[in-house]
Amino acid sequence: MKINIAPSILAADFACLQTEVDSVLAGGADWIHVDVMDGHFVPNLTMGPMVVEALRARTDCPLDVHLMVEQPEQVIPWFAQAGATSISVHAEATPHLHRTLEIIHNYGLQAGVAVNPATGLTSLDYIYDQLDFFLVMTVNPGFGGQSLIPATVEKVRSANERLIHLGRPEVPIEVDGGVDVHTIGKLALAGARIFVAGSAVFRAQDRQRAIAELRTAAGSTGSCGT
Ligand code: DX5
Ligand code: ZN
Repeated sequence: MKINIAPSILAADFACLQTEVDSVLAGGADWIHVDVMDGHFVPNLTMGPMVVEALRARTDCPLDVHLMVEQPEQVIPWFAQAGATSISVHAEATPHLHRTLEIIHNYGLQAGVAVNPATGLTSLDYIYDQLDFFLVMTVNPGFGGQSLIPATVEKVRSANERLIHLGRPEVPIEVDGGVDVHTIGKLALAGARIFVAGSAVFRAQDRQRAIAELRTAAGSTGSCGT
């Protein structure tokens, strides 16, 4: 089974961000996950397109931008022009999810929909044909370092079954929040293939080892690529 490990720079040391990103890429990370928070959709404020632009100037690695913002359609152009590879928007954050995914695709980027732990999977039924990936939040978005909410494992399984039923078994499920060596195995078994990991990677002294241990715990045989 092939998986992608996507360290979230939310847990990195921002005073030396380039070194931090270099260390996880050298350690075998597949994507870099960028958590964008607006202080409205979630009770935290993080980074904007300048960070993506600065990283893009230094690396060809896929930059996975997770927009935890209201009215994501307004900021998608900024992150696309800054060099994002993929952009996910929350189903709860826009009344125009279909149009929003079209905007992402019009920039030639991969588009994903994210759902909070308490949000159902019904949005999948109407946008499954537009999805490049589907992001199941395994914690309430807003902060790193939280524990995985156990019920979300079953939700990953349901999302996987639904995608198979809808004829899109190839759409990977991304999970985000509380992913570590203790939780990644059950998430992989439930059908997740892209694993965001903030604390589990950046809080480790040896990032290469941390990423290798995550892969082993997931039962992985390699990377999905992009
Ligand atoms: C939470 C963010 C996550 C977070 C994960 O709102 O979307 O990407 O950085 O952090 P950990 O892996 O520490 O739970
Ligand atoms: Zn995230």
